[in-house]
Amino acid sequence: MLAGKEVVLGITGSIAAYKGAEIASRLVQAGASVNVVLTESAARFITPLTLESITSRKVFTGLWNNAPATTHITLAEKADIVLIAPATANIIARIAGGFADDMLSCTVLATRAPILVAPAMHTDMYENPATQKNIERLRELGFIIIEPEEGRLASGGYGRGRLADIDIITGNVKLAAAKDGDLAGKKLVITSGGTREPLDPVRYLGNRSSGKTGYFLAQAARDRGASVRLITTSEPVGETTGIDVERVETARDMLSALNRATENADCLIMAAAVADYRPAEAFTTKIKKSAGGMDLQLVSNTDILSQARGSFVRVGFAAETGDVDKGAREKLSSKDLDLVVANDVSQPGAGFDADSNRVRLFFRNGKVEDLELMPKSALAHRIIDAIQAIGFSDKNC
Ligand SMILES: Cc1cc2nc3c(=O)[nH]c(=O)nc-3n(C[C@H](O)[C@H](O)[C@H](O)COP(=O)(O)O)c2cc1C
Repeated sequence: MLAGKEVVLGITGSIAAYKGAEIASRLVQAGASVNVVLTESAARFITPLTLESITSRKVFTGLWNNAPATTHITLAEKADIVLIAPATANIIARIAGGFADDMLSCTVLATRAPILVAPAMHTDMYENPATQKNIERLRELGFIIIEPEEGRLASGGYGRGRLADIDIITGNVKLAAAKDGDLAGKKLVITSGGTREPLDPVRYLGNRSSGKTGYFLAQAARDRGASVRLITTSEPVGETTGIDVERVETARDMLSALNRATENADCLIMAAAVADYRPAEAFTTKIKKSAGGMDLQLVSNTDILSQARGSFVRVGFAAETGDVDKGAREKLSSKDLDLVVANDVSQPGAGFDADSNRVRLFFRNGKVEDLELMPKSALAHRIIDAIQAIGFSDKNC
């Protein structure tokens, strides 16, 4: 996702500086080339050796001992993204004031790349009006602020000022890097998870869909520059920075959310497992146990995919346990789809709840593509590649 991107990671003298090593590692794992700039205070908390080992690059700590002497300009010009994490109250004040008195502040002043700042400090330092004013100034200047969290502080207290979760920090970097991705300017609507059809206040009819594929698809599309609305019944999987997540419960909720979301959409991916039926009656009080059995009357739900109309690319999922090909081809034509992602959910390591999947892609033009078993996060990119191959040109955009 960050392959080919040059990221300058500024680490400053916060007690959270040790987390800079994990941030550097995650960025490297995502494919970025990472140049770490440590302030002199940060170098008291974490050693250059650690960061050099993680990034396989020289770490910069001072302004005066570099060859060439204008390294700060080279770093600034080469950078696709500058991230300061953790950012002290001190660096925030200095860059808000336009200071250029060390390697990091010089690089920040000289770059034209997006700059992300993740503050970390004691609550009283963070809430101090001077700090708040400096953060506000950075926002006005176009810096992206990654808000700190509330939580336990190094001082033992509790409050806002803890460095944002590392997933959220890396999610913001990916979002900033995605601006020129191959889906830039496209709007994707994705549904995921199994709908829950209430029976009474404590029970529902549901299915085993985990919603993971939908979250991975949303992350992949976000990382490639799309604007993404995810309509899901499921708890978040991974980070959702920049993804517009709408939580719903029933098939009917999902349909009305979809009708609102698909206006101007370029693509709809229906990864949700929508219940075909719902209980005819949802009891308002808990159904009591009674002797003997119980008859449950079900009524049909509206077929969401057939209802979702518009000139967007339409992708459906077919989770089958029998003749996968037959089910997928039927779905492709009966629901007027451009692509069906079909899988046999009875296979081990594939389908619902698993972290991996093996699917077969059925295209409108008759082409069929078999994909090997792979993690759902990788599969998400392959599905987006397939959508790109279909093309958006004859659709909405
Ligand atoms: C043990 C210790 C922990 C510190 N933690 C923080 C912190 O979390 N956030 C912060 O803004 N400053 C913190 N400071 C103060 C900064 O280290 C100090 O303002 C320093 O000048 C920052 O320099 P820099 O911004 O160039 O890295 C801490 C200081 C010490 C001694």
